[in-house]
Amino acid sequence: MKTTPVSVQRLCATSLCLLLSAPRLLQAQSATGMNLRIRADQITGRVGPNFYGLMTEEINYAYEGGIYGELVRNRNFKETVPERRSPQNPTQPTPGKQAKDLVHWSLVQDGGGAGSMELDTDAPLNGAVPATLKLTISQAAGAQKVGIANDGFWGIPVKPGSQYKAMFYAKAATGFTGGVTMSIMSNDGSTVAASGQVPKIGQTWQKYELTLNTGANAKASAENKLVLSTNRPGTLWFGFVSLFPPTYKNRPNGNRQDIMQLMANMHPKFLRFPGGNYLEGNTVETRFDWKKTLGPIEERPGHFDDAWGYWSSDGFGLLEYLGWCEDLGMEPVLAVYAGYSMRQVRFKPGPELDPYVKEAIEEIEYLTGDVNTTWGARRAKDGHPAPFKLQYVEIGNEDNFDNVKGSYDGRFTAFYDAIRGKYPDLKIIATTEVGTRVPDVIDEHFYRSEEDMALHAYDYDTRSRGGRGGSAPKVFVGEWATRVGSPTPNMHGALGDAAWLVGLERNADLIVMNCYAPLFVNVNPGGMQWQTDLIGYNTISSYGSPAYWVQQMFSTHHGDLVLPITVANIPTAEWQQPAAGRRGGGPNAGAVDGGRGGAVAAPAAGPIQVPLTPMPRQLPLMFVNATRDSANGTIYVKIVNRSGNAQPVHIAISGLTSVESAGKATTLAAASPEDTNTITEPNKIVPVTADLTGLGSDFNRTVPPYSITILELNGK
Ligand code: AHR
Repeated sequence: MKTTPVSVQRLCATSLCLLLSAPRLLQAQSATGMNLRIRADQITGRVGPNFYGLMTEEINYAYEGGIYGELVRNRNFKETVPERRSPQNPTQPTPGKQAKDLVHWSLVQDGGGAGSMELDTDAPLNGAVPATLKLTISQAAGAQKVGIANDGFWGIPVKPGSQYKAMFYAKAATGFTGGVTMSIMSNDGSTVAASGQVPKIGQTWQKYELTLNTGANAKASAENKLVLSTNRPGTLWFGFVSLFPPTYKNRPNGNRQDIMQLMANMHPKFLRFPGGNYLEGNTVETRFDWKKTLGPIEERPGHFDDAWGYWSSDGFGLLEYLGWCEDLGMEPVLAVYAGYSMRQVRFKPGPELDPYVKEAIEEIEYLTGDVNTTWGARRAKDGHPAPFKLQYVEIGNEDNFDNVKGSYDGRFTAFYDAIRGKYPDLKIIATTEVGTRVPDVIDEHFYRSEEDMALHAYDYDTRSRGGRGGSAPKVFVGEWATRVGSPTPNMHGALGDAAWLVGLERNADLIVMNCYAPLFVNVNPGGMQWQTDLIGYNTISSYGSPAYWVQQMFSTHHGDLVLPITVANIPTAEWQQPAAGRRGGGPNAGAVDGGRGGAVAAPAAGPIQVPLTPMPRQLPLMFVNATRDSANGTIYVKIVNRSGNAQPVHIAISGLTSVESAGKATTLAAASPEDTNTITEPNKIVPVTADLTGLGSDFNRTVPPYSITILELNGK
């Protein structure tokens, strides 16, 4: 790789540090490599308390088959819609797959037992479950068995020494005298990992609860099913079936422990929810309709997540998002439906839009109102009397995709005025530029290649801070990712992310929050709709990608003060930019490999353009920043090396009495940028922390090829 050094000049005349020029080429490379000069007695900004957080929506089986603990798929028998979108048209169901039949349930007939099953609309459980599963047992006695089996989300996970909480609604026809056995058994029926019995089923709908325990020697596996069976003839109806493994912090209707632990280790400060496209839906009927996600799980109707092409039981509802926040100590960043859905459905301000504005105000009251308010009382009834802390509300998602000019201005104004009027302290986030009101914050989204990340890593350094008489909105980088690697990012992705993130932190005076997207992917076949996702999992295990480790390292290693830094001799490499016609670049740019929606099989969005090949350009290979912790004086220097060479770095720190010789380095490095972590090799690339000596106010270090290094220096 041909490399050339460049220089970024910063002038630190006042307490603010200004970028004088974008990276410019120098003629020769210094023998000592890159040169950093850090002023530790000045600051260019402060890293806000909520700088690092998470973004989430129901995509890639994030909740159902992901963090939501429920193991039974199609627990209320409503998932009868196609599971996959057509590759030709990702917003349309696959032609010919309009399944009317029950999915994920099968009939069990063992040892000579015989029977049949069907959906029965004459025996609804409640308004949310209009059709229940009727099991007719024509022959069963002694060791014979007839029942129903659920195949879960790519299997039912068995782990040793675990307690599972099971629940089902059932009723029996007159004359049925038996009970129901519930078992977690291997798919071939040879091993029963856990089992429990309800001795008698009554003739009206009743809820039955069981605890199923696996033994200490049970083999961890995903190749299992849940079976509910009987050995007596007659007729039974099942109205709802649920099975939960142990959940994080034992929360009822809670989350999977391993994935929650991965997130806990990131120390995220906020959660942006519920989307993303999932908030908007393709139509208003398929938006995230929060009121329908409250209350007992058997009373939630669920909906088809047409943004991503699969069914949501809505067991993971509004209160579950808030429970997730509570469990990880995050603040909610609530996105409200803004009267726009992705198939260009929009409501005009006035009587058309008013119901949605009212809905948003009520949603905020559900989160923050005391128990004397209507929706605060509803929250208390749902089990959480204490209000939640809420600082930020986002109006919609990516409304730059609304094709009608001025539509967002009108809609935003209606929401803004209503929210400001009732909740003056809330900070209001716009999803694109608005001219009619000044939002507190603008949410900007970026999905890019590694090179595009490097190219744009300095964008915020030159962004105007003034604007509109000093009242310019702050920035929330609410979705971003270097999209290299599938299903999860490889080291290319991690290096692009780190280059970008170093720039975000350096500009923390402007950027108040940021979060990577998407957060999750179920790596089982068919689990992914959007490639390059931070955390991967299957039915029994999970792992962090190299990009996950970048997030984890950065969010746990930074100070609150951004220090001015002058950098010289940045190595560069020549890069041939892709021809015009590909997406990428500015705020809310479509995914580099798919455009909005970004479904894996989707063709590139937009008209075909004649390729105009731009001139090759020099891209920086190294990226840096420095922050300081005002409480204990620790200085964090972040150094990203995208090159395949070890790079010498000279660091000089001024403005302090002394810098200790002892410190630390945390490094994430790979032998090749193609290297990655996978479900079978989860820890190939993980950070390593080492104690260092020989540091001081002027020292040299060499950083490894393809690496991200965070130095911790103790200054006085
Ligand atoms: O993160 C995936 C999708 O990308 C989000 O749902 C949407 O906001 C963006 O287009």
